[in-house]
Amino acid sequence: NNMACLWICALLLHFCNGLSEVPVGHLKPLGFQRPPSVIIDEFTVDNAPSPVDFYRNYVSQGKAAIFRGAILQSKAFKTWSDEYIRETFGELEARIEGKKEKGGGIPAGETYMGRDTFRHFVDTYHNSSSYMVSELPEQMYKDVGVIPSVGACGLMAKRFVEIDIWWNGGGGKSIIHKDAFNQINCLYRGTKQWKIFEYKYEKWIYQQKEREEGVGGFSKVNVDSVDLIRYKDFAKIPWSNITIFEGDCLYLPKSDYHQVFSEGTNNLAVSILFSRLDDLAEFDASDCTDDTDYKALKPLSEFDVMWKWSGKGYMSMGRGDVENYREELIEVVEQMEHFTASDLEQMHGLDMTDQRSKEKFPDIERRNMTKVFTVFDKNSDGILTSDEVRAATWEDFRLYGLHSEEYEPSNSYIFEYSLIPYEMVHGLLKRALKIGPILTRKHWVKIYVKYTQGTPYYANNVFNGLVGDGDQVVVKDIT
Ligand SMILES: *[C@@H]1O[C@H](CO)[C@@H](O)[C@H](O)[C@H]1NC(C)=O
Ligand SMILES: *[C@@H]1O[C@H](CO)[C@@H](O)[C@H](O)[C@H]1NC(C)=O
Ligand SMILES: *[C@@H]1O[C@H](CO)[C@@H](O)[C@H](O)[C@H]1NC(C)=O
Repeated sequence: NNMACLWICALLLHFCNGLSEVPVGHLKPLGFQRPPSVIIDEFTVDNAPSPVDFYRNYVSQGKAAIFRGAILQSKAFKTWSDEYIRETFGELEARIEGKKEKGGGIPAGETYMGRDTFRHFVDTYHNSSSYMVSELPEQMYKDVGVIPSVGACGLMAKRFVEIDIWWNGGGGKSIIHKDAFNQINCLYRGTKQWKIFEYKYEKWIYQQKEREEGVGGFSKVNVDSVDLIRYKDFAKIPWSNITIFEGDCLYLPKSDYHQVFSEGTNNLAVSILFSRLDDLAEFDASDCTDDTDYKALKPLSEFDVMWKWSGKGYMSMGRGDVENYREELIEVVEQMEHFTASDLEQMHGLDMTDQRSKEKFPDIERRNMTKVFTVFDKNSDGILTSDEVRAATWEDFRLYGLHSEEYEPSNSYIFEYSLIPYEMVHGLLKRALKIGPILTRKHWVKIYVKYTQGTPYYANNVFNGLVGDGDQVVVKDIT
């Protein structure tokens, strides 16, 4: 039968093709699968667009843009040497990660795990796997420049969500991921290679969602060895291969996927995250006038930022857009006749007496919704109205965020407790106590740091738990 023969031939052909055809760039590093083809517009200081044009042609279109030399005149660009930062900002703290290619473990800083002082970081980052990925302390805002296309006037300048610093000693390499917000990423030191994949190709990115409801996410594709048998559609994505030099800024639209490689022995970027500005009926530019200076950089300290950080204590990295919180709260408040403090507590599952709340918020003692409610309830009648929510300031919302947001260990000092299992510390202690009749504090700290890669600070905490502030324990006394 002719028909059957044809089918068999076709099948055979398909099979043999499948065997012989290794896709171009299979198991090669990212970038070898197809040549880059998407051109990204570039501006100089002289021809950069006004906020209105920038919003219309780039932000609202989800289209990236490069601003060459945009922050060359900023104070940070001119002054931020290692020495200057150590002298000026040394006491401030930042969050640190391990570089991905070095295994990505959380390194210990001067005092805490996952947290370092600028002083200690400056002295060690050239020779460690520490990568500062952190909110930028507010004290440093005055040195940072905001480019006129975003900051001269208009709505974007009033919607800064978070300011981050990315700093490493070279070699930092990311996975392919997307962020929740629009960002202007300016490079103060070093060079960065960016590979950008527009959001519209997400269907071919092989996405791993970070959280169920989250807007973040990353690709399952291994950037060192792209498996085109498993992820065959990945090679279909047109992409951009761009180099950002020091002094340049990149506008990266919300949700665009990107992979970044940091070059140079000092690689420091500051990223200004601003609202997504989805579904905006009209771009508010009512403060743009003939007097607006469309050429000058402005210091970041002249802007309000939704989440700021003091350089100590609990960090607010990764929180949401305050204006979205406002909308959500208005919606909930309007559904109820009398919205009281306990409704606010319930809304966030923050019942201090409930065991499940305690599991969800291990830091529940830090939280107090009554306090938040008191601040929002301006006429102190015990009932929150939608007008009161509309009138609430960002400062009010900062308090709200601090007390309500999901617990994020990497924002806190107790990070180390969540990383080093109790059993490990307990086992180590048991072994240490077996060795001799006496265990000194000094010896305990040494073995704790060695075996857990933790910090002396926590080693001492554990020891304090045994003997208060004593210098040694007599083993027979504590068994
Ligand atoms: C991407 O750009 C970098 C820097 O110019 C270059 O070294 C690299 O070969 C480019 N990659 C591709 C695939 O074009
Ligand atoms: C970094 O380590 C290398 C050897 O591993 C050493 O030669 C160099 O001096 C160190 N640099 C700094 C800044 O400590
Ligand atoms: C919570 O805040 C309220 C109002 O500021 C205060 O009266 C109360 O003592 C606080 N409760 C706790 C447990 O800290």
